[in-house]
Amino acid sequence: MSLVTASQMKAQTQMALKSPLAAQDPRIRVKKLALIGAGKLGEGLLSGVLGSQLIPVGHVAATVAHQPRADYLAEKYAVKAHTSNVQAVSGADLVLICLKPQQVKGFLHEVKKELRKDALIISAAASVTTGLIERELGHPARVVRAMPNTPCLIRHGMIALARGKHATDEDVALAKEIFGSMGRTVVVDEKHMDAITGLSASGPAYVYLIIESLAEAGVKLGLPRELSTELSAQTLLGASALVLHTGEHPAKLKDMVTTPAGCTIDGLLELEEGGLRVTLIKAVVRAAERARQLVESQNT
Ligand SMILES: NC(=O)c1ccc[n+]([C@@H]2O[C@H](COP(=O)([O-])OP(=O)(O)OC[C@H]3O[C@@H](n4cnc5c(N)ncnc54)[C@H](OP(=O)(O)O)[C@@H]3O)[C@@H](O)[C@H]2O)c1
Repeated sequence: MSLVTASQMKAQTQMALKSPLAAQDPRIRVKKLALIGAGKLGEGLLSGVLGSQLIPVGHVAATVAHQPRADYLAEKYAVKAHTSNVQAVSGADLVLICLKPQQVKGFLHEVKKELRKDALIISAAASVTTGLIERELGHPARVVRAMPNTPCLIRHGMIALARGKHATDEDVALAKEIFGSMGRTVVVDEKHMDAITGLSASGPAYVYLIIESLAEAGVKLGLPRELSTELSAQTLLGASALVLHTGEHPAKLKDMVTTPAGCTIDGLLELEEGGLRVTLIKAVVRAAERARQLVESQNT
């Protein structure tokens, strides 16, 4: 994970505050960010937000369940980190929830009285709808829901954002900026979140399986494992970048690799016979169905 150290962070923040441009920067308008549940995803967000100077370090409070983890975060990022959610949300105008899904209701219940009515709530908890958060809080809260994926940890993530009933365009823009520090963002209708969970949130797992299989093929053909894994991973990275960079249909890019009577067409025939396309489609559909079931059980 490319994380920024506490001293780098302090220096960056001081520079940002000294710069007249940054002082007027509308992005730095959050008075207090409460980052609730600074685990893997939460720490990635903390690093992204501080590293890109979106919010000054002195404006951030992070919480976790265990004090040693809080001490680690305070030491590494120079933020206020502790185990009291109530203290963290007190006065916060932005609350970022990175808790496990089953912990969200309890958290909302715990902080309901302390939470500012005008606070923007951004939740990255899988399967927790904006409706559930609005209902639990009992007031027309501004909520944005995010569905990131693990490459966010190295700022190459894919993050889908969906707005709740009361969130404004500005709220969505702020969420885009925050998650933009971790990768590529798209704003979608919340009804697409289950499909997105099955595709881009679960997707890295499918891709690792593909990388692993290609690497095994290299090993079968006599390549050293390390080299084989590097060739395989970089091939997926490069091919993906070409799709995003050119905006071309993947089929057209595939045709560019496929010389008549060449090698690639033989490989493609094997993939078609093995049902790769149908298998991947079914995998995404199954994962999305599971996401829908989890949403239903989580939100009743
Ligand atoms: N990881 C991803 O890439 C990813 C992708 C998509 C969605 N998400 C969603 O993000 C959420 C977090 O996932 P994660 O992988 O980051 O999990 P994680 O590493 O387990 O982080 C959860 C954090 O919550 C803290 N915590 C537990 N109970 C708490 C409480 N009552 N108050 C405050 N903090 C508490 C834990 O503290 P301790 O460390 O002290 O135990 C831990 O740091 C999940 O809802 C997941 O669905 C994650």
